[in-house]
Amino acid sequence: MTDLTNNQRIYLSASLVALPLFVLWSWRQRRLNAIEAAEMAQTSPKTVVVIGASWAGINTTHGLLKEVPSAKVVLINPSDEFYFNIASPRLVSKPGEIPREKYIYPIAPLFDKYPNAKKNFEFVQGKATAIDLEGKNVSVQESTGTSRTIAYDYLVIASGSTSNATTGTGSFQVPFKQSSSTKVEAELKTAQETIKSAKSIIIGGAGAVGVEFAGELAEARPDLEITLVTNTDNVLFGLREPTRQKAAKILKQKKVKILTNKAVTSAAPDSTTGKWTVTTADGQTLTADIYVSTVGVVPNNEFIPASLLNKDGWVEVDTHFASKANSSVYAVGDITHYSARLVSRVAGQVSVLISNLKADITGKGKRGVYKTEQSLMVVMPMGKSTGTGQLGNFTPPGFLVSFVKGKDYFTGSGKKFIAG
Ligand SMILES: *[C@@H]1O[C@H](CO)[C@@H](O)[C@H](O)[C@H]1NC(C)=O
Ligand SMILES: *[C@@H]1O[C@H](CO)[C@@H](O)[C@H](O)[C@H]1NC(C)=O
Ligand SMILES: *[C@@H]1O[C@H](CO)[C@@H](O)[C@H](O)[C@H]1NC(C)=O
Ligand SMILES: *[C@@H]1O[C@H](CO)[C@@H](O)[C@H](O)[C@H]1NC(C)=O
Repeated sequence: MTDLTNNQRIYLSASLVALPLFVLWSWRQRRLNAIEAAEMAQTSPKTVVVIGASWAGINTTHGLLKEVPSAKVVLINPSDEFYFNIASPRLVSKPGEIPREKYIYPIAPLFDKYPNAKKNFEFVQGKATAIDLEGKNVSVQESTGTSRTIAYDYLVIASGSTSNATTGTGSFQVPFKQSSSTKVEAELKTAQETIKSAKSIIIGGAGAVGVEFAGELAEARPDLEITLVTNTDNVLFGLREPTRQKAAKILKQKKVKILTNKAVTSAAPDSTTGKWTVTTADGQTLTADIYVSTVGVVPNNEFIPASLLNKDGWVEVDTHFASKANSSVYAVGDITHYSARLVSRVAGQVSVLISNLKADITGKGKRGVYKTEQSLMVVMPMGKSTGTGQLGNFTPPGFLVSFVKGKDYFTGSGKKFIAG
């Protein structure tokens, strides 16, 4: 130490004291920052915006309020009421049979039971009109007429699909789906009344909805002339042979005329008589009081950025239901590219989705993976007492279909599906 000057000595001892103090100070500062961040996270919860309150959107909202109670959930839907659309073949054919409260449910009260709902849940009645991926916000045209922008941390697109019958495009309008309008009951009433006074009807397409609808109508209106047109070799293309044969047999017993290998190319109502003319690919024309198309599904995607969609207009997702183009965006239900668009797939999809959102938001839990290989479970009533279906490799007998679904199209226990 002898060769240090006094000044050097002072500097040295000063820095010996200062260094630990500095270390202590910066450690404390880091800790304060961390506490602040934790507090921030607590006071500004992550917001998940869910677009669409049909089967998938309602199931998702329940899942979030249950599994991720810290998140704020905003549910957007054009109507404030849920339509139990799977009963539509019966509702249209037999007006008044199923009471209104068994197929129309107010949406917002479904979530009143969650303790966190008052603070963390908001239902917005309106139509999503645009998604801003950069700004992470959704534009909504509220039913009151006001435009609003809602910011999200995570977005769940559950806008589903529609059909040409639902929108009345090249088809007499029948609400087989929750339409984007808020007038499903008025649409249902018009369909019921028009069909009630019709003498003939052509149904285009012989998938599950076409077969159920034909079977229901035949039972309700034995005097109605019903023609089912399919472009395949028999009804229920894609299902097992015994199921297809059984369905055709029941329909024939009910005097439904089945035209096979005939593709409908156009259909339009006469502007004066209202009678429909249907043209098929082989150049034939058929006429009837009503034509209802039950073929095809149309994605509800008008507001979704093209970068999220595949070439057919569905949201391309991975097995976690995250968008392949943007990991803040998820999609679930009919709107995804997964082609089995069945209500029976929704609960399985939603549980995978929720596990992933939970992991994103809380860092906890295992991320579920969706397995697309699942055995098919469909039951199709054709009137009250019979029907067919496919349960894995089993074709259920008519009485079983009747017992499971035919008596009321699940409306008796409808609340169970959406109550969470
Ligand atoms: C929505 O995002 C855009 C950025 O792309 C931003 O300009 C706008 O302020 C955002 N709106 C809200 C309400 O956050
Ligand atoms: C629905 O209607 C449009 C317009 O007529 C038509 O282009 C389209 O092919 C139809 N979709 C299906 C699935 O039939
Ligand atoms: C989502 O898309 C926006 C706009 O392209 C981009 O800025 C953002 O980084 C993307 N986010 C993720 C997580 O991919
Ligand atoms: C989703 O719906 C199914 C019934 O379809 C139900 O069993 C399940 O509990 C629902 N999920 C949540 C999170 O409520």
